[in-house]
Amino acid sequence: MRAGGRKNAAVAVIPAALLAEGPSVLENLPDILDVHTYGEILEELGGAVRWLGKGRLEINPNSFSTYQAPYELVKRLRASYYLLGVLLARFGRAEVSLPGGCDIGLRPIDQHLKGFRALGAEAEISHGVVRLEARQLRGASVYLDVVSVGATINIMMAATLARGTTVIENAAREPHVVDLANYLSAMGAQIRGAGTDVIKIRGVSRLKGAAHAIIPDEIEAATYMIAAAGTGGDVTVENVIPKHLDPITAKLREAGAEVEENGDCIRVRGTGRPKAVNIKTLPYPGFPTDAQQPMTALLSVASGTSLVTESIWERRFRHVDELKKMGSNIRVEGRTAIIEGVERLSGAPVTVTDLRGGAALVVAGLMAEGTTLVVGIERVDRGYESLEKKLAALGARVERD
Ligand code: EPU
Repeated sequence: MRAGGRKNAAVAVIPAALLAEGPSVLENLPDILDVHTYGEILEELGGAVRWLGKGRLEINPNSFSTYQAPYELVKRLRASYYLLGVLLARFGRAEVSLPGGCDIGLRPIDQHLKGFRALGAEAEISHGVVRLEARQLRGASVYLDVVSVGATINIMMAATLARGTTVIENAAREPHVVDLANYLSAMGAQIRGAGTDVIKIRGVSRLKGAAHAIIPDEIEAATYMIAAAGTGGDVTVENVIPKHLDPITAKLREAGAEVEENGDCIRVRGTGRPKAVNIKTLPYPGFPTDAQQPMTALLSVASGTSLVTESIWERRFRHVDELKKMGSNIRVEGRTAIIEGVERLSGAPVTVTDLRGGAALVVAGLMAEGTTLVVGIERVDRGYESLEKKLAALGARVERD
């Protein structure tokens, strides 16, 4: 199967197109709900958005004029908070309602606001609306108290058009931060250090539109790799950057699967019952929280006891109760799931709790004996393209009601 473009890069790059003074063409966008929703949000805000065919989107920001994004628009996805940095940079002000998104724990934006304030903006939240205002953004040093992908991206976007140099310390190092920095650089931004924990942005007075292809989605790839390991399958995932999958590869090998890297492909072969492994989620290059839930499905059938510690989101074990309905033996204590592997799972009706939790239930359903009915699959559609088609092409028996 072929991995699509990375969701969490796409939802940053799409709003970033509004920073330019001319049209951009984005390529390799995944065909997922969150991407279409973001396109619709930009349209509603007055930007001209045109799909050019498979995964290609033209965004012309010239007709774009409002600095307000109301709740009806932003409630549909978390990443609408990127409008804060973009609108602030473009118009010197932004009014964006606090966004929706998956319920996986508290999702504060204090570090985003800390950054905007350091750049000279006034920031307040009242009645569920974030209001930012600055006569002129000025470069500044910002130390992030927690490693935050969203805050790093938002501050980086706002800083591109500020006067002077901004330094973000303790920045997130995720490859999608680098992907966005590459796009902004193609637009004329001056950015150094993306991919390390110190990013320097020298403000410029304007940005131009640019063409950019989104990097592959490592979490989609990881989900299929985990499914292959759990079903005794043999799956080659094409269009990946194997380096980005290092933490997944390492853990799957430890669990006994065979993983082979070959250029931009990665092949995973399941070799019987997986072995128990311990996992702790961490910012990149640690084990990604977004792959934690599918991994717990795999470890449900491992021989031995696995400890999975979630250090990013405190409510990211809500899928566990659903896995239990399928016969798994998991106990959650605080931020750790203690998984006593069982011989096999049994198919059952289960309900999707959140995007990656839903992916975990699909993986569990593929491994289980009998039929699994996954209710609420539209939550999974937010982040996985052509799920049942891709699975069916690999030999899975899946259908959508
Ligand atoms: N945090 C703060 N203050 C802030 C921002 C974050 O305390 O101002 C904390 C969070 O509570 C969390 C940690 O910092 O404990 C990391 O949060 P981060 O800001 O990195 O998360 P995010 O940017 O809101 C993105 C992805 C998530 C992914 C995380 C971590 C998008 C749209 N979302 O969220 O993806 O889990 O980074 O890698 O890029 C998903 O795709 O399923 C998903 C939830």
